[in-house]
Amino acid sequence: MRTPPNARTSRSRALYEEIRARIGDGTFAPGMALPSTRALAAERSLSRATVTLVYEQLAADGFIETRSGASSRVASGAMAAGPAASPRSSPDQGAVVSQPAGRLSAIGRRVAAFGPRDVRPTVPGEIDFIYGPLSGADFPILVWSKAMRQAERQRVQRLEYDDPRGNLLLRRALHAHLSQTRGLVCSLEQILIVNGSQQALDLCARLLLDPGDRVVVENPGYLAAHQAFAAYGASLACIDVDEHGLKTDQLAALGPAQMAFVTPTHQFPLGSFLSLARRRALLAWANETGAWVVEDDYDSEYRFSVGPEETLQSLDRSERVIHVGTFSKTLSPRLRLGYMVLPPGLVDAFATAKRLSDRHSASGVQRALAVLLEDGSYARHVRRIRRLQLARQRALTQALTLYLGDGVDIQGAASGLHVVVWCRSLPSTAEGALAEAARDLGVRVHPIGPLFHPGSGGPGRPRPAGLVMGYALLDEVQIREGVQRLSVALRQVQAGLAPGQAPGS
Ligand SMILES: Cc1ncc(COP(=O)(O)O)c(C=O)c1O
Repeated sequence: MRTPPNARTSRSRALYEEIRARIGDGTFAPGMALPSTRALAAERSLSRATVTLVYEQLAADGFIETRSGASSRVASGAMAAGPAASPRSSPDQGAVVSQPAGRLSAIGRRVAAFGPRDVRPTVPGEIDFIYGPLSGADFPILVWSKAMRQAERQRVQRLEYDDPRGNLLLRRALHAHLSQTRGLVCSLEQILIVNGSQQALDLCARLLLDPGDRVVVENPGYLAAHQAFAAYGASLACIDVDEHGLKTDQLAALGPAQMAFVTPTHQFPLGSFLSLARRRALLAWANETGAWVVEDDYDSEYRFSVGPEETLQSLDRSERVIHVGTFSKTLSPRLRLGYMVLPPGLVDAFATAKRLSDRHSASGVQRALAVLLEDGSYARHVRRIRRLQLARQRALTQALTLYLGDGVDIQGAASGLHVVVWCRSLPSTAEGALAEAARDLGVRVHPIGPLFHPGSGGPGRPRPAGLVMGYALLDEVQIREGVQRLSVALRQVQAGLAPGQAPGS
């Protein structure tokens, strides 16, 4: 199958951005050797010429050094090079990427190196198993508009800034909601409303990390969190994940760390649930080493075949846990509404940082959400959307079993809004080819490779090809149709594999 030229250019651009981001977050440290163009081309199913072009552009932009006959290496001044390290153009299209006229700060340079996020337009008719967005049809438009009207109708005497910690009505309603649904043990004062959990992570990075501090993260894990920490100069210490979540027995060998970031209720992306024994081990380690633990409770509303569990926040006796939650998975990621439950000693610093950052989150949406929480419509909405998501998830797992049968293993179906699908007959190095073949058939699937820390599970590690398959955006008919097409793509890629190329090779 011939790759259309625009698909080739967007893949080379993606490779350029990925390497640039890895240099930016410190995973490709200065002096480190990059894979050979031949190995990388084979791994990504790209031509060697394309990879060579990407390396040449990275070298021209000051990120790497290339020498004929020797490995290309990350440039010694890659992170400190300032404007010289800023890319002038993308390797393929020659498009101008922003270049500052003056000096960026160290944080600015790291952030710039991550590159802009590729916001892809939806192609009509395409079936996208993307994880993240929700279906617009699921948004409770009537109750939300009614609550917004109600919130805005309340005439206030003074249009003044709200409390940086968040609107009092919302914090009260949320306090009751969290103690009821998540068993959180906290006072009203400990709750801070933020613009989605991403702002919470950014505040944690700014207030708790100094350059060089070590942050324990899950591998594979949530890149947006890892980048938020790396942006402030943290070094990431990756710990493997198995079916019981983070392998806490690896903590002792790590030495001190300033923070650990975990998704204990539903490990992202593998979907495991951190066992009680490991929760206790993590808290004991944090207590001994003085580390903060950031608990990302991003989709705990979707628990299908696992019971409620104790959050790290409710188990914590040493005021080490920062609990983070979001309304991005139940209402809409566009609302930018999330919350933190802070240890009492951190409240003032975080409230001040929030004030200095944006004064407070938008008041109208906060008050509308308070109405929804108070009058029971939020709880009703969550019950409804949970049923819908479960039906979609069943459609997905049934279709995978029907069309792909023994060819795949499905992981993480007990909760959440995505599953991980391991294609037994394909090596991880064929993930790109599988995604491309599926795309030619009008289906978008998303390889798991980029969520692994390079060198420890990314492309090239002996494991089968894996896909993170979200279903929140699709209806059951689309899901079945998409999986059927995926099965065709899988067979095409299998047929094109070199003889003897086994999964995990
Ligand atoms: C692990 C994880 N945490 C949190 C979020 C939500 O982020 P936000 O609240 O900033 O929308 C997501 C979104 O996909 C996620 O995957």
